[in-house]
Amino acid sequence: MDREALEATARALAVPGKGILAADESTPTMGKRLAQLGLPNEPGLRREFRETLFTAPGMEQHISGVILFDETLRQAASDGRGMAEILESQGVIPGIKVDGGAHPMDDAPGEKLTAGLDDLAERCAEYYELGARFDKWRAVITIGDTLPSAACVQANADALADYARISQDAGLVPIVEPEVMMDGNHSIGRCYKVTEWTLNTVYAALADRGVHLPGTLLKPNMVISANDADDRVGVEEVARKTLRCLKATVPPAVPGIMFLSGGQSEAEATAHLNAMNATGGGPWELSFSYGRALQQSALYAWGGDSANCTAAQAAFLHRARLNG
Ligand code: 13P
Repeated sequence: MDREALEATARALAVPGKGILAADESTPTMGKRLAQLGLPNEPGLRREFRETLFTAPGMEQHISGVILFDETLRQAASDGRGMAEILESQGVIPGIKVDGGAHPMDDAPGEKLTAGLDDLAERCAEYYELGARFDKWRAVITIGDTLPSAACVQANADALADYARISQDAGLVPIVEPEVMMDGNHSIGRCYKVTEWTLNTVYAALADRGVHLPGTLLKPNMVISANDADDRVGVEEVARKTLRCLKATVPPAVPGIMFLSGGQSEAEATAHLNAMNATGGGPWELSFSYGRALQQSALYAWGGDSANCTAAQAAFLHRARLNG
């Protein structure tokens, strides 16, 4: 494992003032986004929207890296260059989603376990050759009356740790993403407890596998009220509880915490991140690795029409600048 190279990549991704664009929606998920516009889920449309974002002039001022889906890393842009080459020419580091999605977990009704470890070492080696320098694996933890189960939290932490170690051995900085979902009606206190439990389990597993923490990044949920909670708390409380939870669980050797937006609106995701940094943050850089919260306005501004590319780029750059 080349520890120094991993550390340099992780620091470059978590550099102050910049964050990550998560443009790694799987093909079915991208289909849902396009369906919002009444558009078919075609490779050409997926490429055009993503290429529009990746060629936004000046994006490198606030975007340090972009997470791609396998299809995109292999797609040629309209000028024939590969997508990784386009990003590199913008001064942006290409990354890749390597998990195989969250699937129903055996003997755990209502819960999911992320797949994709079997051929991961081979895939990481190929992705490195194709230009990727970091990768991402998302685990899903669902809160319910009796969920999550200990088996689900442990199995997902173990898979994240195996993934992180395999990635580092292949020269890729692993983004470790245990997402405690905000679906449901649970309180922020319940989200805090489950997030604390999950992160403690994940960091124990990472230590067990000999993962080099300065060459990793964490992509967590914020500690937040569920979407349908009766008493959704405000921005300051989300920021305070999230920081408290992270300080209790995430070792300072981790260089950056890059939040997912998880269904928050664009404005909420920006306000929460700002409030956390305004209160002094923590021993790590605190930034973003947003998908929907960076792309939603841009998607609507584009609308499937290449004549609107400049407007879509402007919408994307606006969110990137506010989050940066
Ligand atoms: P959201 O910011 O839309 O949650 O997406 C981030 C991500 O990459 C989820 O895996």
